[in-house]
Amino acid sequence: MKQIVFATNNKNKLREMREIMEGLYEVLSLDDIGCHEDIVEDADTIEGNAKIKADFVTNKYHVDCFSDDSGLEVEALGGAPGVYSARYAGEHCTYQDNVDKMLAAMKGQTNRKAAFRTCIALNLDGQSYFFEGRCDGRITEEQRGTDGFGYDPIFQPDGYEQTFAELGHEVKNAISHRGKATRKLIAFLKDLG
Ligand code: IMP
Repeated sequence: MKQIVFATNNKNKLREMREIMEGLYEVLSLDDIGCHEDIVEDADTIEGNAKIKADFVTNKYHVDCFSDDSGLEVEALGGAPGVYSARYAGEHCTYQDNVDKMLAAMKGQTNRKAAFRTCIALNLDGQSYFFEGRCDGRITEEQRGTDGFGYDPIFQPDGYEQTFAELGHEVKNAISHRGKATRKLIAFLKDLG
């Protein structure tokens, strides 16, 4: 079977991708190819960081590879934290630190529009491709729900009364930024056969 590297060691992302790609590609992780370097993601865009990871692996290991990067963009904060979403409250912060900082930054703010974006960069047979997924919604006044991770307890997607953390995996995957970008990647790879 054809092999493709997913430039991640995130167990949840890997399991999900392996399930979806079963029978089409054998999906290898960074660990699987012996890539233990710390890939410095220092681009100032989500697209840029996705590309840095995919290019690093393709250039060094000469393999087809894809990589994803996501972030939360809040309109009233000029698009912040965006590419810095993981480290919004500091270098070694927790998800809860980020949620607390966001709620404080948005206190009293009436424009609560926000969007999650995922970009997947793919290097395949010497060509580069990008796939994007976006989910629009709003930042809630307080956190609700226990499912998920990151900013899920304070992100309410458009058309729903619940936050991502209250909606559960299945609904979230159907409408989320990552779900949409991933389905675009898979449709593209399936089309190639
Ligand atoms: P990553 O590029 O997928 O690792 O995402 C970067 C950061 O964006 C994460 O550490 C989270 O803080 C935030 N983030 C990305 N996707 C989600 C999501 O689906 N829910 C909540 N937070 C997310």
